Amino acid sequence: MLDLRDLTLPLVGAPMAGGPSTPALAAAVAAAGGLGFLAAGYRTTEQVADQIEQTRALTTRPFGVNLFVPQPSIAREPELVRYRESLTAEAAHFGAEPGAPHPDDDGWQAKLELVEAARPAAVSFTFGSPGREWMTAFARAGILTLATVTTPAEAELAVADGARALVVQGPAAGGHRGTFDPAAEPGTTSLDELLTQVGRVVPVVAAGGLSTAEAVARILGLGAVAAQIGTALLPAEEAGTNAVHRAALQSPEFTETGLTRAFSGRYARGLVNDFMRRHDPHAPLGYPEVHQITGPLRAAAVRSGDPHGTSLWAGMGFRSARPGSAKAILEDLTPQ
Ligand SMILES: Cc1cc2nc3c(=O)[nH]c(=O)nc-3n(C[C@H](O)[C@H](O)[C@H](O)COP(=O)(O)O)c2cc1C
Repeated sequence: MLDLRDLTLPLVGAPMAGGPSTPALAAAVAAAGGLGFLAAGYRTTEQVADQIEQTRALTTRPFGVNLFVPQPSIAREPELVRYRESLTAEAAHFGAEPGAPHPDDDGWQAKLELVEAARPAAVSFTFGSPGREWMTAFARAGILTLATVTTPAEAELAVADGARALVVQGPAAGGHRGTFDPAAEPGTTSLDELLTQVGRVVPVVAAGGLSTAEAVARILGLGAVAAQIGTALLPAEEAGTNAVHRAALQSPEFTETGLTRAFSGRYARGLVNDFMRRHDPHAPLGYPEVHQITGPLRAAAVRSGDPHGTSLWAGMGFRSARPGSAKAILEDLTPQ
């Protein structure tokens, strides 16, 4: 089984669903000596299987696959109806209509079975734990299990279920918070404090706002075995980040990030844009329903090149994100 301490670089390429994660990026991170990741979220099981194959064609080095853990729906129908109506005019401006919410567990069971059979070096989870049975099955298959956690209580739960490593995600992280309880406000305890609280029962990867070699050195000094790098890799040549998102990350027009449920019904951090300003105050909780409602609008905004109608996920360290090869980006983040 993969030992995170054996990585040449103490860096994990964060799984980034919705486009940025590609086989080319996972393979480039792996080739550079870090642990690359594919993101299974939002993709069909067949697409994930294809991506695993493509990554294997590009590298013989270890890489992982990340899965979204489904959870019970917390959406309230009247709130969803109201939110959908409030987006109609904005969607029409982009020539789209808000989507219709429907049950979707992201192909959970089929993806678990795919990963068990495909045996990537690692599997990581976000939004919860897959439970003891699957943790055991993956360990038996020689796959390293990592659970994303945002509090010491979540860490205890994941370790009790058999997670062999943790990704401790702090509040500066870009994209969705991995918070287990979809109704809970994500914690605000700093990453450094979280690392101290979580302890070292299993190896810990630190995530969230790590955008310089100094920041990576700091979390290694606090006992983490590696840093999981998301936002800094968004502008990488090998990433599938869309052009609107790439441009926004470099644009002086965007000056800060915010935590919002306006795009997906789950708390996530991104660049503050008009959509977030307009809709965050009245957006309901409820993933994946809200994600489905905003989907056509977000896609149409990207097609029309408008950064104010789509999610621009980014962590608090986004100012340091620079275009370049994944290898060059990771070298810049490696403590001397
Ligand atoms: C665009 C984007 C998509 C993400 N998608 C996922 C995902 O599919 N699964 C996951 O576990 N984490 C996801 N994350 C969170 C990362 O794993 C990681 O926690 C975060 O990027 C670290 O913070 P940073 O962005 O400041 O480096 C995503 C982050 C971003 C920026």
